[in-house]
Amino acid sequence: MLLPVILTHLVHYTHAFSIPSLPRLNSFVSASHTHTQQQPLQDTLGAWIEREERIALDKLLANVAPGGRNVWGKGVADGTVVASPSQDGPDYWFQWVRDAAITMNTLVDVYADDPSSSSASSLATILDAYTSLQRDIQHTSNPSGTLDDLSGLGEPKFHVDGTPFTASWGRPQRDGPALRALTLMHYLREYNASHPELWSSEASEAFFRPYYTVEMPPRSVIKADLEYVSHFWNQSSFDLWEEVEGLHFFTLMVSVRSLKEGSVLARSFGDMGAADWYEEQAGYIENLLGKFWNPIKGHLVETLWSKRSGLDCGLLLGSLHALPPLGSDDEAVYPPWSDEILVSLLALARDQRDRFPINSRPSEDQDDGGETDAFEGTGLGRYPEDVYDGYGTSNRGGNPWFLCTSSAAEILYLTASHISIAGNLTITDLGLPFYQSLLATSSLDVELSTYGPSDALFHSALERLQATGDQFLEVLETHVDADGSMSEQFDRIDGFARGARDLTWSYGAFLQAVRARKVLRAL
Ligand code: NOJ
Ligand code: NOJ
Repeated sequence: MLLPVILTHLVHYTHAFSIPSLPRLNSFVSASHTHTQQQPLQDTLGAWIEREERIALDKLLANVAPGGRNVWGKGVADGTVVASPSQDGPDYWFQWVRDAAITMNTLVDVYADDPSSSSASSLATILDAYTSLQRDIQHTSNPSGTLDDLSGLGEPKFHVDGTPFTASWGRPQRDGPALRALTLMHYLREYNASHPELWSSEASEAFFRPYYTVEMPPRSVIKADLEYVSHFWNQSSFDLWEEVEGLHFFTLMVSVRSLKEGSVLARSFGDMGAADWYEEQAGYIENLLGKFWNPIKGHLVETLWSKRSGLDCGLLLGSLHALPPLGSDDEAVYPPWSDEILVSLLALARDQRDRFPINSRPSEDQDDGGETDAFEGTGLGRYPEDVYDGYGTSNRGGNPWFLCTSSAAEILYLTASHISIAGNLTITDLGLPFYQSLLATSSLDVELSTYGPSDALFHSALERLQATGDQFLEVLETHVDADGSMSEQFDRIDGFARGARDLTWSYGAFLQAVRARKVLRAL
């Protein structure tokens, strides 16, 4: 267990393991060269992943207060996650509600790995500080509004000391409260599981009070967020990329998940009216989510009635962040293994493969057809029309993002695990293009049918899902810095890091993909 080592050295941590330096990217002028020369072997990938996992957790924690070495002594309130240590060009020295909730959710997973360890107790300190800071933030009037009518909960970002950011911005963003509620409910579940006596003990009331109480108007963090989500979900807001107003897949996916879990939580606190209300609203959101499937385009769209294609990494992230907790029999709306998500991933990956020179593989393009249709790991950006290059608007267009590329790997690993556990794979009309492309390099006929462990196709599909997930991680391996650091983006032409350095979310997304890979490999 290296975790305790990492956590006891929160402030002054030096790598206790050696990291071989990776080849500099600028020595590879042509993209094809990059791939043929740097394509890592399977076992090398495994070794890299193990090393990078430790680096990613260390660098993620560096951006979290209390204790993080990038935030220590800099006026950062305890419980804060800075989006990146970069204070100018670009300035990401803020706490975004979304980035913070997603990061803390990753830390809850790490906490739950070994709740009685000393590292877990450091994490509990961080998570407790996060809870109390979020409560303060909820109570802070800001440009989106106030707590009294709940409108203030839609404020997307705060200064690192917890005060409101008042300059103009794409606000409100309604995914924040849903994500925060999900993270805190996850923490409560895990904390409860590791302290089974707590629920019925005398300390229970004091412990749970900041998280959930039935009182109205809501004064506990989760209750306030659930009230917000359940009353505002049908109003338009800015998307997760903070650019367009409308109704968004990502936002609604995390909203419905928070209300479903919220309903269970409310019931356990005897808050029956609220439980019914959350469930009812969740049902309406589920109905609306049906509209995000565009049968003409043959994929989901991120924003309704938008001029954009709708292909978007927010589709992948929406699916991932709306997964029911492990072991729950609740069904997700568009889980990672749903045909709608898989064909959308395929369409996005094809677009991005052809769009970014760094993704091109000229040697294969010369082959006669076939091969180029095969689904392969590639660097993924946010969406085709993106023009944000990490610093400002660029007429060259956007770039691949670390977190989007990781999310594709995670989708594929989770899909493989799901199929493997279910013991069957049904290929329908809807999913056919995905499975044809996944299996394009095999000689098997991919037909509409249900396949099981006695069919070769079942095993090939599992093997290809993991191998393609690994290819997405190999892209990351090729583009991280020599010390394993990840920024926000990597350049579409030369593959160099671009945008905010050490983006916290990049590390978290990578850790989640690796977690999904481990689950799959343990089956
Ligand atoms: C900064 C935002 O965070 C980012 O999402 C956006 O793409 C750029 N500004 C350009 O609007
Ligand atoms: C820009 C991204 O578009 C947005 O999703 C994120 O919250 C901020 N950067 C901060 O990382």
